[in-house]
Amino acid sequence: MKKVYIDTMGCQMNKSDTERMLGMLSHFDYEETKIPEEADLLMVNTCSIRQLSEDKSFSAVGTWGKWKKELKKNIKIGFCGCVAQQKAEEIFKRAPYVDFVLGTHKIYALPEIIKRINNGEKVCECAETNKTEDDLAKNYEIERVKGVNAWIPITEGCNNFCTYCIVPYTRGRERSRQPELIIKEAKDALLSGYKEITLLGQNVDSYGKDFKDKNYRLAQLLRDLNALEGNFRIRFVTSYPTDITDELIKTAVESDKVCEYFHIPMQSGSTPVLKAMNRRYTREEYAKIVRKIRDMVPDVTITSDFIAGFPGETEEQFRETLTAIDEFELDYCNVAAYSPREKTVAAKWVDKFIPEDVKDERFQRLNKKIQENCLKSNKKYVGHEMEVLIENFYEHKGKMINTGKTRNFKTVHIESDMDLTGQFVNVKITEAKTWYLKGIQS
Ligand code: SAH
Ligand code: SF4
Ligand code: F3S
Repeated sequence: MKKVYIDTMGCQMNKSDTERMLGMLSHFDYEETKIPEEADLLMVNTCSIRQLSEDKSFSAVGTWGKWKKELKKNIKIGFCGCVAQQKAEEIFKRAPYVDFVLGTHKIYALPEIIKRINNGEKVCECAETNKTEDDLAKNYEIERVKGVNAWIPITEGCNNFCTYCIVPYTRGRERSRQPELIIKEAKDALLSGYKEITLLGQNVDSYGKDFKDKNYRLAQLLRDLNALEGNFRIRFVTSYPTDITDELIKTAVESDKVCEYFHIPMQSGSTPVLKAMNRRYTREEYAKIVRKIRDMVPDVTITSDFIAGFPGETEEQFRETLTAIDEFELDYCNVAAYSPREKTVAAKWVDKFIPEDVKDERFQRLNKKIQENCLKSNKKYVGHEMEVLIENFYEHKGKMINTGKTRNFKTVHIESDMDLTGQFVNVKITEAKTWYLKGIQS
């Protein structure tokens, strides 16, 4: 057996692609190693969402390039993922020691690529396919990260072209995967012992919009998955605010396995900024959706993403983001300072760019606000009984801790000498911390 090491950056979509690539490689006598020094094949699965992520990809392969050159190691190096899709052959110029570049559209070309690089070729596979590769997916099992949660992509790509975002360029147009294949992957994961299925997509709630032969949307998929036998949970991320239909919310409520959790990136609390971002909703429309979900789904957790310092954002407009987090009682948010991305519309608005120090200061204020709100949100659950799916068991300062998630995506720490990984445990919440809850098994 040869050994492969994959450094995976970016979102769960990349993590899922890595699991698929490891599955394919296992057919060709490669087993995964977590130690790069002992690998025969080194791959980086890159993210391009911000400049910093892109830079990180190149520094990873840089080290491996040195091993190859200075230590004359007989290793092969692969550059995959979103930066690969975007830059294609350019990668070879910047990193000549790379043996192959593989974009996000063609991951199923990997076995063929391995044959070719082993014959001494340099290979670049970055053409856009604009179709899902489900026929090929059927030929390979998936080597999932060990744990309780299985990620299953349901849509790939994005058609929204938000003016700051690179994803439509790195993942192509939106394509929905066939329900039969998703359901099969879910069944396989459940048979292997996974206890949670997370459906993935840039906009999961537009699933099925592109099916010409049938009317089959996310709500239907949730119902079909919910009907599978066994005790397990279903989650779905990410939702685009205005694509969340009443039917979807109702289905989530009625399907016992679907969890009380919505991740709905708002990006800015200011309507003019949203317009400049090409987000298709106003502050008020976002408010309406959140209110509706809170009314229909008891104890729901709603999380969001925000960008600080979008080109042209004024101090007043930024404050509207702070007030949005309070007003909509967002339970947790990911935040980032705006980073200009090649090819995107906003990257051309150089005269409107916000100075780095202002962006950073806004980013810090956003973080502070999120910390406060997260603690506030956690405090609501002290004294409650909650079902926790245990994900991890480890030692911390001489104590044994089980950690897991509630249905509504709160992290809970439970002291216990028994490894409860993979079990659903009823827990009484005793204390709220900023980022997690503490509880005792009840
Ligand atoms: N499809 C999802 C988000 C995908 S990208 C959605 O529409 O919400 C994940 C997050 O990265 C985004 O929600 C956004 O907050 C952030 N992001 C994307 N492009 C960015 C950029 N150029 N600078 C800073 N943050 C960015
Ligand atoms: Fe990017 Fe917007 Fe698509 Fe999300 S919806 S992936 S932010 S372009
Ligand atoms: Fe990054 Fe690509 Fe995901 S740009 S956030 S890895 S879709």
